[in-house]
Amino acid sequence: MAEPLIELKDIYKIYQLGGEEVRASDGVTLTICRGEFVAIVGKSGSGKSTLMNIIGALDVPSSGSYYLGGEDVGNMGDHQLAKVRNKMIGFIFQQYNLLPKLNLLENVELPLLYSGIGTEERKEKAMESLRRVGLEEKWRNLPNQLSGGQQQRVSIARALAGSPSLILADEPTGALDSKTSRDVLDFLKQLNKEGNTIVIITHDSTIAMEAERVVRVHDGKINFDGDVNEYSAIL
Ligand SMILES: Nc1ncnc2c1ncn2[C@@H]1O[C@H](COP(=O)(O)OP(=O)(O)OP(=O)(O)O)[C@@H](O)[C@H]1O
Ligand SMILES: [Mg+2]
Repeated sequence: MAEPLIELKDIYKIYQLGGEEVRASDGVTLTICRGEFVAIVGKSGSGKSTLMNIIGALDVPSSGSYYLGGEDVGNMGDHQLAKVRNKMIGFIFQQYNLLPKLNLLENVELPLLYSGIGTEERKEKAMESLRRVGLEEKWRNLPNQLSGGQQQRVSIARALAGSPSLILADEPTGALDSKTSRDVLDFLKQLNKEGNTIVIITHDSTIAMEAERVVRVHDGKINFDGDVNEYSAIL
């Protein structure tokens, strides 16, 4: 039996906007197991980022429960959330979010620095991670000396460095051309084959087709959750 990693139950995220109630998450129940590769899709404003923020321990729900790796994350304060993020989640963003004045190795080292790992081990792990994305020879380079696809690979290396339980990617190919997107997606697939749990958030159905399972949100609710083949049949 697969072991649940993400367990969302009856999640609501409600904003009050000038007397109006916005239900950004409107009763979401979702379980994702270790080793899965899931795409969360939906139109603009459907509630993808809201879910991503909750899954990524960047925000807490208004109500409902969230367990990540068996830990009750739904009621944590900011300090505890930061710890969970650092320990359990590798983030990949559309705009890479690399620090321009740090070289590639230093960028990849950052999350390890925050988790208090010593200098030697940090450098070793960061270099190993750069090796996995094929950029170890460029470790001294600055981010702006790389192509977009290479920068995204560095951000993947950074996400992997701390061996997180979950890799959470928000529009990871949003800033890339189609060939480079392909490479990045293939790389994520490879990481999944090696046992990593991957959740991608995207508005792009063709990207979602690369996952094994698709979850579609609409008006804050899940209106499709199933195998990618089922999903392609309804498109
Ligand atoms: N801080 C906020 N205050 C009020 N309403 C919000 C807030 N954040 C999000 N919303 C609303 O919640 C709904 C869901 O927003 P969300 O950002 O999750 O959508 P999304 O699916 O990520 O969209 P996009 O594809 O455009 O990024 C939208 O109607 C949005 O306007
Ligand atoms: Mg969004």
